[in-house]
Amino acid sequence: MPQFRAVLDTMTAYTPGKAVVSAEGRSYKLSSNESPEPPLSSVVAAIAEAAANVHRYPDPAATRLTEALATRYGVPPEHIALGAGSVTVAQQLFESVGDPGAEVIYAWRSFEAYPLLADLSGVVSVRVPLAAETHDLDAMAAAITPATRMILVCNPNNPTGTTNRAAELVEFLDKVPSDVLVILDEAYREYVRDPAVPDGLTIYGDRPNVAVLRTFSKAYGLAGLRVGYLIGPEPIAAAVRKTMVPFAVNHLAQAAAVASLAAEQELLERVERVVAERTRVREALITQGWTVPESQANFVWLRLGDDTAAFAAACAVEGVAVRPFGTEGARVSIGDREANDVFLSAAQAFRSRASAR
Ligand SMILES: Cc1ncc(COP(=O)(O)O)c(C=O)c1O
Repeated sequence: MPQFRAVLDTMTAYTPGKAVVSAEGRSYKLSSNESPEPPLSSVVAAIAEAAANVHRYPDPAATRLTEALATRYGVPPEHIALGAGSVTVAQQLFESVGDPGAEVIYAWRSFEAYPLLADLSGVVSVRVPLAAETHDLDAMAAAITPATRMILVCNPNNPTGTTNRAAELVEFLDKVPSDVLVILDEAYREYVRDPAVPDGLTIYGDRPNVAVLRTFSKAYGLAGLRVGYLIGPEPIAAAVRKTMVPFAVNHLAQAAAVASLAAEQELLERVERVVAERTRVREALITQGWTVPESQANFVWLRLGDDTAAFAAACAVEGVAVRPFGTEGARVSIGDREANDVFLSAAQAFRSRASAR
C-alpha cells in the first residue's frame, strides 16, 4: 500500500450540496447558495468566443481580469490575486501560513471548507463558537497566541447569514497583532443591505495584515467556472500568487468574469431580486413560527437541532434540497419565487406535523 498522510484518515471530507427529485419529478436545489438564474447571454457569448482558444494555456497572470477588477474597485493591480474559486484562494492562504504548529482561528460554525483546508495544510484549527449566531470577536481576539498565523472572519457568515458590524470589526482588528493575517471572507458581500456591515475593501486600507476574499460564484452566477480573488496589501496578494498552482484560473473563467464585470448592472438587478425574496422567505418563516436570524446573504438559517435530518428529508420529499449540518440546523439558499414557495409550504407542513405530535 502506498503510505498516505495520516490526516487523510481523520479529516472530514467536504460535503457538497445535493440535488433531490420528488416523486412527481420536481427538483429545486437550495443547498449550495448558487445564483438561481442562468448566465446572462452576454456572458455565455464571451465563454463561447473564448472556447475557440482553449488549445492554448490560459494567461497565467489573468491580466485582463486583474485589470478589470483593479478598475472596478479602484485598487492597484498588485493588490489582486486570483484563484480557481475563492475556496482555492483560501487554500493558497493556508499554504502560505501553514508552518508546522501554526494556528488558524475561525468561528464555528462557519464555512465548512475551513477545517478541511486547515487539516490539509497541517495547521492547527482553533474554532471559536458563534455567540448569538454571529462571530464572537472578543473570544476570537482572546484565542490569539504566539502561534497564531491567520484568522478568518466570514462576513456574512456561512451558514447563519449573520454579520459583524463596522465598529466591532475595527475594534477587533485593532487588537490583532500586525504579523497575524486576517482574512475577511466576503463571498456574499453583494447581498449585504445593512449599511452598518462594513465593506472589507474600505477597511484593509492601511492595515498590512488584512485582506478581503471575494468570488464570482454567487452574485455573479459563475459557480461552475471557478473563479475567486483576494484584494489586499501587496505582500499578501504576492503570497497568494506564489502558492497558486500554475494556470489554475482557466481561460473560460477569465473571459466570463471579465464579461460579468462589464454586465454588472444587469447581474446586480438579479441580486436585488434575491434580496427581496430573502426578506419574503424570512418573514413567511417567522409567521410560520420559526426563529430565523436576519440574513445578509443569499440563504437563511434554521437552527433545528435534532430535527435537522427529518426537516431535510421532509423538504426532499417535495423536491427541495436544503443543506443540513448534523444536528445543528439547515441552511436554505434563496431560489426563484417558485422554489421558495415550494420550500415554504414544506416548512409549514413540517411545523404542522411537529405541533400535532
Ligand atoms: C464563505 C464562503 N467563502 C468561500 C466560498 C467559496 O466559493 P467559491 O470557491 O465558489 O468562490 C463559499 C462558498 O460556498 C463560502 O460560503
